[in-house]
Amino acid sequence: MPQASFDARLAALAAQLAPAPDKPEETPESTLRALWLLAAGKPASAALAMETDLPALDDGAAGRLDDLVAVRLGGTPLAYLSGRQRFMGLEFLVEPGALIPRVETELLANAALAFLRAVADPDGRRCLDIGTGSGNLAVTMAALCPGARVLASDVSEDAARIARANVASLGVSDRVSVTVGDLFGPFESEEHFGRYPLVLCNPPYVSSTQVSQMPAEISGFEPAAAFDGGFGGMGVLRRLLRDTPRFLAPGGRLMFEVGAGQGEALLKSMAAGGTYRIVEGLQDERGIVRAIVAGC
Ligand SMILES: C[S@@+](CC[C@H](N)C(=O)[O-])C[C@H]1O[C@@H](n2cnc3c(N)ncnc32)[C@H](O)[C@@H]1O
Repeated sequence: MPQASFDARLAALAAQLAPAPDKPEETPESTLRALWLLAAGKPASAALAMETDLPALDDGAAGRLDDLVAVRLGGTPLAYLSGRQRFMGLEFLVEPGALIPRVETELLANAALAFLRAVADPDGRRCLDIGTGSGNLAVTMAALCPGARVLASDVSEDAARIARANVASLGVSDRVSVTVGDLFGPFESEEHFGRYPLVLCNPPYVSSTQVSQMPAEISGFEPAAAFDGGFGGMGVLRRLLRDTPRFLAPGGRLMFEVGAGQGEALLKSMAAGGTYRIVEGLQDERGIVRAIVAGC
């Protein structure tokens, strides 16, 4: 890899690329490496690109790289260019029809994994993943928890298609199935009631009135259904809290992500509400509640 051409492009990117707090893995260097690999025909996430040797580029590939850098600086999310994003150490396929998995969601994924792994009977490690998006949570549970079986749903046909591609590419087709439908709609039958030790969800939780203030890189590129949570950001969340108890097995848990600043009020209202006897907040490294664990 010719160092001079890398360094010159890196300097240009570093001068113009604004850091995105929700994608800390995307530095100027990881961005350039991912675009370099893409131009060479070897797509990789920003995280994988940092671990991959860069090949030399011929003139055609160097031209493609400069075009890709320009498109990225124009605001197109890196993961929608590379088509890849790392989540929980796994390399996911990503397309504009589904939310780009965020590292912040690993707080929820790690807690859910620990809970599911603690279910003694591997045959009992059953999970519903509501609003699966790219399938990152569903696939993570199946790939990293022996025996785990996941039924996933999403209202978006595009998201379901992308999730199914990840289920196949990450080798968990025998233990994850993805259905298109509204929240628990696909599971409203006796065979599913009271059956799941874990209900998992990363819901859309941004208040509709706040959407216009989101970074254009999110609101202009990622699907609105993935982040617009309606009035107060509570549209999907309210229904999730209402409907989950029907599906939980005895001792089961609902685990879901919340927006920064949303968790404390939600914890209080859930504790006062009476439906959930166990209500616990999970804090990120800054001490902000970013996920809630609840049991009936
Ligand atoms: C914040 S994204 C989460 C995606 C993925 N689970 C993740 O962690 O990145 C929320 C997902 O919920 C889906 N969704 C929104 N409303 C829904 C509904 N009523 N029923 C099912 N899925 C819904 C969206 O299409 C989107 O894929």
